[in-house]
Amino acid sequence: MEIKTDFLVIGSGIAGLMFAHKVSAVGSVALVTKRAIMDSNTALAQGGIASVMSEVDSFEAHINDTLASGDGLCRSDVVEMVVKQGPGRIQELIDLGVQFNLDESRRKGDETVNLALGREGGHSQKRIVHAQDMTGRELETVMVDHVRNQPNIHLYENHITIDLITHATRVRRGLVSTATDEYCCGAYVLDLETSQVRTFSAAIVLLATGGAGKVYLYTSNPDIATGDGIAMAYRAGATVANLEFVQFHPTCLYHPDAKNFLISEAVRGEGAVLVDRAGKPFMHKYHSDKDLACRDVVARAIDTELKKSGEDSVFLNISHQDPEFIRQRFPNIYSKCLSYGMDITRDPIPVVPAAHYMCGGVTTDINGRTDIDRLYAIGETACTGLHGANRLASNSLIEALVYAHKAAGQAIKALKTIDRGQVPALPAWDEVGTTDSDEVIMVAHNWDEIRRLMWNYVGIVRSDKRLARAKRRIEMIQKEINEYYWGFKVTAGLIELRNIATVAELIVKSALSRKESRGLHYNIEYPDKDERLAQTDTRFKRPLAD
Ligand code: SIN
Repeated sequence: MEIKTDFLVIGSGIAGLMFAHKVSAVGSVALVTKRAIMDSNTALAQGGIASVMSEVDSFEAHINDTLASGDGLCRSDVVEMVVKQGPGRIQELIDLGVQFNLDESRRKGDETVNLALGREGGHSQKRIVHAQDMTGRELETVMVDHVRNQPNIHLYENHITIDLITHATRVRRGLVSTATDEYCCGAYVLDLETSQVRTFSAAIVLLATGGAGKVYLYTSNPDIATGDGIAMAYRAGATVANLEFVQFHPTCLYHPDAKNFLISEAVRGEGAVLVDRAGKPFMHKYHSDKDLACRDVVARAIDTELKKSGEDSVFLNISHQDPEFIRQRFPNIYSKCLSYGMDITRDPIPVVPAAHYMCGGVTTDINGRTDIDRLYAIGETACTGLHGANRLASNSLIEALVYAHKAAGQAIKALKTIDRGQVPALPAWDEVGTTDSDEVIMVAHNWDEIRRLMWNYVGIVRSDKRLARAKRRIEMIQKEINEYYWGFKVTAGLIELRNIATVAELIVKSALSRKESRGLHYNIEYPDKDERLAQTDTRFKRPLAD
């Protein structure tokens, strides 16, 4: 069955929801998400949104902090644009009903927004707008409500996108013979309730599927983070960039039952100190900013401490702060830790680094357009040039909001130029594998193998030898996945496995091709930065004949 829509939005984090909300003013929107609408990385975001919201802060300071963290790879025009648009996007959220924490001591008059501002690593000022330690949940809840009440938006939960449909797909399937300019015209989507594949035909397609933390064994990300948008865009022929820059969050809770629980950097922003098992602080040995150094520095420092000591974790101690303040400021972290028997007002919290954020992704221009016409990518799926080699803490939600705004404006203009009377004929889904698999173990085994080998060989500290080992293994796994993919009916597990394998391959190829250490990419064989590689992205584009 074919579903026709003006805008196809894939993903239901803040980027997809905000874009859908904006474009629904001018056309029909199909919002496709592979689990329930709230299952997104956004909903787990604790820290907040970085933006210049106080009189002692300045755009210049936020720009400089972002550039310093990005370590020579940020696009300065993008940084300036995002930073300057930040306050307007925060105001828009407030107008939509988002409730951030307020600081009564900053109130100047009834009209003034007196937001409470937190601090995180790499920021020279307090500029993190937050809703306690559940900022993402607040954003997601408010925006889901708007989206659900918008008659122009049709929501498809439990629908996983398999692949994009482009003009090249139509040429390959013999529907058209002429090779005009490449453009995206829809997607094949598996309805997980009926197991039927549906064809979506759209004038504009937006990828906002989030990141790919599940490529690694240990991650702060939810199960949905399988790099679907990056993998699909790459298969469709879009350029991807800078995938070697995987951000490891320094402080994930270390507990056998805590699958992916983050201890927000905002905890260090409120004075928490990293200590070893004996209670001794160690960050002074690694950076003058100590516990509030940039994430790459803190994650590598913890990795070094763990390798030296042979311990399973280090500890984060905030017990010197007022217990009532801790409970008020971090209610989510407090109660989660308490559920595991740890009272953070008294006990140090065991923490380890875990894969957290992809700084690279599908390359876009300043309006969120990829190099395939009518295909947009925003949020963690995209590589806009804001983050460079290392994302500054809490710059991701602001990037998603600014780019949802920019891309929506651009897409609304573009829609006017597309003749919807001339909807291209799309090939129906080809039931490539017609039988149900009798070997589900292949999917489970390869999921596990990829995640483990990426953790062991392509982690915080890399070497060419380990990367080459990873490359060989991933190539073998991909061969196996391909044979299986064309033999059996697609399932969610197989689609996600194929995507994490593609993203893993791209991370390894990107890491192997960067012969230096910069930002989040550290290779012991090239421990220094090569100044000739500043402003040089690592780009990959799949030849369309593949
Ligand atoms: C955190 O709360 O530490 C995560 C915020 C971020 O990744 O920007």
